[in-house]
Amino acid sequence: MAGKERVIITQGQYVASAVKKEQYPEKELPEIVCIGRSNVGKSSLINSLTRVKGLARVSSQPGKTQTINFYELGVRIADVKDRKSFYLVDLPGYGYAKTGKENRRMWAKFIEEYLTTSPRLQFVCQLIDIRHEPMASDVGMFRWLVERGIPVLVIATKADKIGKNAQNRQISIMRKVFGIAELSILPYSSLKNEGRSDLLDVIGDTLIQC
Ligand code: GTP
Ligand code: MG
Repeated sequence: MAGKERVIITQGQYVASAVKKEQYPEKELPEIVCIGRSNVGKSSLINSLTRVKGLARVSSQPGKTQTINFYELGVRIADVKDRKSFYLVDLPGYGYAKTGKENRRMWAKFIEEYLTTSPRLQFVCQLIDIRHEPMASDVGMFRWLVERGIPVLVIATKADKIGKNAQNRQISIMRKVFGIAELSILPYSSLKNEGRSDLLDVIGDTLIQC
């Protein structure tokens, strides 16, 4: 199977953690970002894409990721001669604050600075748990990104937790809540690597144009 995939991740490694600009990595690579509520599976998706277990720290406790974490991934694309590299960026979850309001405000500020000033940001993967209706914070984040012209790919995570029919039902509900009938939503399971090759295709198509 793996040999037939069009887009192959050849390597993945942790590069840097940042809470301010000076800590962003130096290389000028295209960036693809994972965003979503705490515990939705952002870090797990990074591990599933790279196939490196434990590369991004995962926890059943929400609020695990507290910094902007940059991972450098190498990519080989069928019929493309040169290998490509990009940063896959893991963000702290929104909708959760361990230490109260003030911390939440601080958090939003450094994430916001990153999202609004990063010159090589290609698109944001916005993760939503397939079992739940998107919450006001999800819809708010989606609109905030779209208003700023940042392309968003909605990913419905933990798809292994429900059957195919329920997945389709949940995806229609998501489209209704977002108010976009034709919104493309990718079901994903980090546990089973479901949706992985579709996401890699999107990444490959993006990198070809960089
Ligand atoms: P924060 O860093 O706290 O914002 O969370 P996160 O979005 O990075 O979530 P994380 O990847 O740490 O996963 C949260 C929990 O969900 C962990 O217990 C994971 O094992 C579980 N999980 C993540 N993805 C999947 C999936 O595809 N299937 C199943 N069954 N569980 C998953
Ligand atoms: Mg995380």
